[in-house]
Amino acid sequence: KEAHAAEFERTFIAIKPDGVQRGLIAEIISRFERKGYKLVAIKLVIPTNDFAQKHYHDLKERPFFSGLCDFLSSGPVLAMVWEGEGVIKYGRKLIGATDPQKSEPGTIRGDLAVVVGRNIIHGSDGPETAEEEISLWFSPNELISYSSNAEKWIY
Ligand code: PPS
Repeated sequence: KEAHAAEFERTFIAIKPDGVQRGLIAEIISRFERKGYKLVAIKLVIPTNDFAQKHYHDLKERPFFSGLCDFLSSGPVLAMVWEGEGVIKYGRKLIGATDPQKSEPGTIRGDLAVVVGRNIIHGSDGPETAEEEISLWFSPNELISYSSNAEKWIY
């Protein structure tokens, strides 16, 4: 299968402060790894409120905007870039519906979260947002190119 072009798709995934504080980093990373996606960037950061507002700029008009920005900037966030075929859409599937009351069991939010304001993880919702968020959170030299032995068994 000619998968090389398609598998280059990338998405931005962040474990929010609640997920980090609850010790869910390994659990969450493991779900993306076991699926067959490849980690190409990762760092732990405490975003400023101003940075959180940039990240959520599309939601400025929402009533929960300032609470959401306060929450994202309240502690360490694990920022990541994951790569692989269909990773933007399928990453959202692994994460589950925004409101953990509606996300299916088996998804990250369905299994690990209870309320929308503490839904432990963020994932880009489309190709444009993915590109925008990756460049907001990472500089190009933080994105690591490497070949993984696993890939030849995945694609
Ligand atoms: S919407 O309404 O379709 O724009 O919402 P959605 O795209 O699903 O969510 C956008 C982000 O806003 C967060 N969100 C909330 N936070 C706090 N309180 C409430 N009520 C709320 N509703 C939505 C939601 O978690 C999304 O953030 P991320 O970081 O992408 O999960």
